[in-house]
Amino acid sequence: MNLSRRFFFKSAAAVAAMTIAEMQAMAASAQIKATGDVAEDDEEYWRSIRLMFPLTHKRIYLNNGTFGPSPYPVIEAVKAGLMENDTDGQYGKWEKTVEKLAGFVGADEKEIALTHNVTDGINIACWGVPLSKGDEVILTTHEHSGNSMPWMNRQKLHGIVVKKYTPAATAAETLNRISDLITPKTKVIATPHIPCTQGQVLPVKEICTLARSKGIFSLIDGAHGPGMIHLDLHDMGCDTYASCGHKWLLGPNGTGFLYVRKEFQEILTPYTVGAGSGDEDWDIMTDPVSIGKYAEGGHRYYAGTQSNGLYRGVAAAVDFMEAIGPENVYRRIKYLGKYTQDNLLACGSRIQMLTPTEERSRAGVTGFKIKGMNYRDFNKLCGEAKIRIRIVPENGLDSLRISTHIYNNPSEIDELIKVTKKAVS
Ligand SMILES: Cc1ncc(COP(=O)(O)O)c(C=O)c1O
Repeated sequence: MNLSRRFFFKSAAAVAAMTIAEMQAMAASAQIKATGDVAEDDEEYWRSIRLMFPLTHKRIYLNNGTFGPSPYPVIEAVKAGLMENDTDGQYGKWEKTVEKLAGFVGADEKEIALTHNVTDGINIACWGVPLSKGDEVILTTHEHSGNSMPWMNRQKLHGIVVKKYTPAATAAETLNRISDLITPKTKVIATPHIPCTQGQVLPVKEICTLARSKGIFSLIDGAHGPGMIHLDLHDMGCDTYASCGHKWLLGPNGTGFLYVRKEFQEILTPYTVGAGSGDEDWDIMTDPVSIGKYAEGGHRYYAGTQSNGLYRGVAAAVDFMEAIGPENVYRRIKYLGKYTQDNLLACGSRIQMLTPTEERSRAGVTGFKIKGMNYRDFNKLCGEAKIRIRIVPENGLDSLRISTHIYNNPSEIDELIKVTKKAVS
């Protein structure tokens, strides 16, 4: 059976002939069911999926790692959420998203705090974990500033010590490097799950197990996890996991969440509190003031007004993934990642591949350098060919990054390869 037919109840050609308004109406009615497995290279099916995105065709977008453009159903849900508040004069309802997110990442509802981006969640975890002068925290040499600055700020203000390892080409060697850094003073391993630099999938479950076995907390920067690879946070065993809606989940900007393992909530102090983060016993009118308990669960870590529109968008993003089938999404992402890596490697010896070729260590992001060529010059060539990639100036890496999602296809990567071949010839 023709999958795109099943998906849209229309042929891909018929969908292509529709106006944007018609597509939006169709998207809003959520006729996006995929039943069963979809082949990762079924281009007709994935072309149909591309039609669900208003993303411009005027250039090729290979930068999902920075920001994942939303499909129509997400945009429609954001609009509907905003309209709902502004027409019925009620506000609230963002809590429904917590339940949906929890199910998607393998957590309990009470373990999720809503945040506004990854950095927000990392800061809650970083400031809330009890640390004293001289205590050591392990990071990588591949951090985004969202996971390095908060810890360096605690070094500046509280005298903790930041130590770092460089991710290795294999998961086993990466674990050895972390092990070698552990001392009796190590209190936290604050590693990314998938660093933004070269998209290497780190052996985070083993890292968390190692941390637990030594009485060390594992606070994970999960910017690139949800929506790129299968996640089960209970199985991973981390203490916290900070992520966002606007990357691989394809949700709106300005949304995020922090997972805090149930038992760890007794250890992680909430510092930003207000409406929603405490019980009814907090009372400023008694003398002395009455100090109550923190809210049960993740709500102790966030307070105040949230956007019903944006969080409706996050819920719709999860629905969108589930309609396609998360495993179908992950397989397609992995397929395009491998396609990118294989074809770049085939461009010859001037390509210095940074992302490991080890199967378990790669997914949707590929990092590389071109020997003898400044990374900014290559980026310029891509810009001239109307291809958006990302440069990686972070931490002196001076490399290039390609990141692809389900709205991409191999022919777009072929265009990148044409530019690369020209650059290395
Ligand atoms: C690994 C990693 N951590 C943290 C961040 C910061 O994310 P946000 O801008 O949502 O705070 C990013 C953003 O690209 C990232 O890639």
